[in-house]
Amino acid sequence: MVLVCVEDFEQKAKEHLEKNALDYYKSGAGEQFTLSLNREAFRKLRLRPRCLRDVSKLDVGCKILGEQMKWPLGIAPTAMQKMAHPDGEIGNARAAGKAGSIFILSTLSTTSLEDLAAGAPDTVKWFQLYIYKDRSITEKLVRRAEKANFKALVLTIDAPIFGHRRADVRNNFSLPSHLTLANFQGVKATGVVTATGASGINEYVSSQFDPTITWQDIKWLKSITQLPIVVKGILTAEDAVLAKEFGCSGVIVSNHGARQIDTVPASIEALPEVVRAVGNDLLVMMDGGVLQGNDIFKALALGAKTVFIGRPAVWALAYNGQKGVEEMLSVLRKDFEITMALIGCQSFKDIQSSMVIHESAYSKL
Ligand SMILES: Cc1cc2nc3c(=O)[nH]c(=O)nc-3n(C[C@H](O)[C@H](O)[C@H](O)COP(=O)(O)O)c2cc1C
Repeated sequence: MVLVCVEDFEQKAKEHLEKNALDYYKSGAGEQFTLSLNREAFRKLRLRPRCLRDVSKLDVGCKILGEQMKWPLGIAPTAMQKMAHPDGEIGNARAAGKAGSIFILSTLSTTSLEDLAAGAPDTVKWFQLYIYKDRSITEKLVRRAEKANFKALVLTIDAPIFGHRRADVRNNFSLPSHLTLANFQGVKATGVVTATGASGINEYVSSQFDPTITWQDIKWLKSITQLPIVVKGILTAEDAVLAKEFGCSGVIVSNHGARQIDTVPASIEALPEVVRAVGNDLLVMMDGGVLQGNDIFKALALGAKTVFIGRPAVWALAYNGQKGVEEMLSVLRKDFEITMALIGCQSFKDIQSSMVIHESAYSKL
């Protein structure tokens, strides 16, 4: 069967994943209203294509934090990728590198940041960070990321605790015993995650992550590193302005794949207010629900400079490791290029906000 869209990769992934893992990757928080909304909100946006505009030479390359990327799509951090396929984070990162995409490594990865750097040396890598109660754990991660040539730190700010993911609680989810949180070999984090209970991962998070953190902690982070800091998990203009005031280099508008708090807006719904608030001063990016070329286009037209995908890369990895991710990225890239051409844009400078409009504009007719 030829796989022609991200949904095809998800179907294939289901044939390869145990229920425990599939539910973990798929789940959103609560009744998963926002999980559906992340898709629905894209569907409510209509494209307004322009015609006769010479689209013979497409150029979809872009510069992100000084790095030349081949297109405006990167891989978001998702935890524990070896549960999907033995190629794990290295396979995913190599595929990203080949496609000219940024790869963000999760703190909660099954490959250490040193092994990832050695395994995918040519990929532009960012490191996703949580702030631990024991600040020395976070500081060591920062030093290791610097040494391993990661280009930015992505501080996830929407997870002082983890959301209530019902399937994980039902399944008593924990990391399979043959895998570890590879950034913490020999440190107390290993093992805690395999504990049973409400959900092994939630137990780990509440025992280790610091729920007291505030914007002041960005000052601390900035005081210990020169790496650019991107905050991930912004859903309001107010927090975007704080990110600017506290000296962050960029924001990722994100609801964590709808896994933290249910009934928050879709990321694509929150994007415009963030762009209005800080779009001239900060690099604004987004993730959540991106499955096809026209989703990427809509996010760009609403002011994002690049988008990220989480689950689609996990599905492709589960289906066929690194090769699966390469194939999925190539399908998505082709779809994005078709969108660009058919809407009348040869490059980003041709993209106008008027090319995307909410469906309500048509119901008034
Ligand atoms: C299985 C899974 C694990 C995730 N793990 C992390 C993580 O470790 N750190 C983080 O900042 N975000 C994590 N996220 C959120 C993603 O980075 C991203 O925000 C989200 O997946 C984007 O939505 P999408 O899956 O619809 O593309 C995770 C998401 C999923 C689905």
